Amino acid sequence: MKTKLIQVSILVKEEQELSKDEQKLVDEACQATYRSYAPYSHFYVGAAVELADGTIVSGSNQENAAYPSGLCAERTAVFYAGARYPDNPIRRLCIAARDSGGSPLCRPIAPCGACRQVLLEAEQRAGRPIEVLLYGTDGIYIVHSIKDLLPLEFDESFL
Ligand code: THU
Repeated sequence: MKTKLIQVSILVKEEQELSKDEQKLVDEACQATYRSYAPYSHFYVGAAVELADGTIVSGSNQENAAYPSGLCAERTAVFYAGARYPDNPIRRLCIAARDSGGSPLCRPIAPCGACRQVLLEAEQRAGRPIEVLLYGTDGIYIVHSIKDLLPLEFDESFL
């Protein structure tokens, strides 16, 4: 028997420690939370995606009365980036959220499993790691690659 150890290193920054570019992406993600359509969960999520040429696109969660028909902010942004800029790979992504009272989350937001899977494929498509900023007012987690968010990943290599 042996143990397989998987280690992930996450940088934790306070807002004043962010670079200008990082702050811009955080601001875009926070602004996107105000474009969320979340009449059912009242959980307002925003995502901002930075592409290789510096273009930033954003998305927010879009809910539906038929609950599973809605989509998370991350996938809205990533799919939009792929649809609008197919040859411009994703380099960085920031996610932010506000709670039902409208306040930004203290704890860095954790992307759902389905979004991690979609981000993994975006990373493989980009051919290099996508950095992820998970925004919280208590601190910002900076994750260096989607693989750090989704170890033991399932991808096309299994097919
Ligand atoms: N949601 C996101 O948009 N991103 C996440 O990372 C977690 C969850 C959305 C889906 C749904 O509209 C609401 O938040 C509550 O789950």
